[in-house]
Amino acid sequence: MEFAVSTDDTAPNGAIPSQIPNIEVEPATEPTIAHPLPRVLAVANQKGGVGKTTTTVNLGAALAEMGLRVLLIDLDPQGNASTGLGIENRGLERSMYHVMLHDEPLENVVEPTDVMNLFVAPASLDLAGAEIELVPAFSREQRLKRAIDSVIDDYDYVLIDCPPSLGLLTVNGLSAAREVLVPIQCEYYALEGLGQLLRNVDLVKRNLNPQLDLSTILCVMYDARTKLSDQVVGEVREHFGEKVLRSVIPRTVRLSEAPSFGQPITTFDSSSRGALAYRDAAKEVHRAAT
Ligand SMILES: Nc1ncnc2c1ncn2[C@@H]1O[C@H](COP(=O)(O)OP(=O)(O)O)[C@@H](O)[C@H]1O
Ligand SMILES: [Mg+2]
Repeated sequence: MEFAVSTDDTAPNGAIPSQIPNIEVEPATEPTIAHPLPRVLAVANQKGGVGKTTTTVNLGAALAEMGLRVLLIDLDPQGNASTGLGIENRGLERSMYHVMLHDEPLENVVEPTDVMNLFVAPASLDLAGAEIELVPAFSREQRLKRAIDSVIDDYDYVLIDCPPSLGLLTVNGLSAAREVLVPIQCEYYALEGLGQLLRNVDLVKRNLNPQLDLSTILCVMYDARTKLSDQVVGEVREHFGEKVLRSVIPRTVRLSEAPSFGQPITTFDSSSRGALAYRDAAKEVHRAAT
């Protein structure tokens, strides 16, 4: 890609690329099917820093606020979803690592959060080793699925925060889920590499989980001051059609501050733009279940 984009993405009349890097696969625009409760969604995108964890936490909190019982599974060794909900994951005796590698029942690691109806199965750093430790393990791609099957009756939504890779942890996430939710950043390189994710979703679908449906795309970190944001949203809608939520998540400092207070945006700053946007997105997501 030769085109150099101005990094000053706040410039209202900044350079606009004539073409955004393309997705290297066929458009996936067929309308999404109905998804009855309970729903299991993997929040995936192999890039880091694109808003997976922020989306998992805040969409989860917004669904919980609607009275739905939500379990958030932290599958990222960084454990940002856990700490972002006020769960101290250092020195945890039992975490998703033990569920994935040592057959610990999932219900034993689930913790309540300060948000009613919102529960989290925390990750700890040792989960990083799971990518390797899982390789020789029996039924290594289906461990999370079996764990979730044992608790699914207790929840309306299970949201899986996947790590930024396409390794065995993400494969477990995709095998356990019925749906994939992909957050896409409204930025120049956002669509690059998405083809790889879509191919992996397809591989898992063909080999492990025929029911898997890439049901939901959420545009995040939208900056109303840039034409680029609109251009990316336009491209994404053109490519993914009905799968793209009408709600778009703005880029706001409040959303990035909330995790350090161990709270989702819905309680940290309940009337902020970020909170309103994630509530809108949650309503839209839930519409597919009703
Ligand atoms: N809409 C947003 N506005 C501002 N900052 C955001 C927004 N979404 C995410 N962030 C920040 O961007 C960084 C990466 O987001 P994160 O959700 O952790 O991405 P991922 O889980 O994909 O690595 C974090 O510091 C987060 O607080
Ligand atoms: Mg993350």
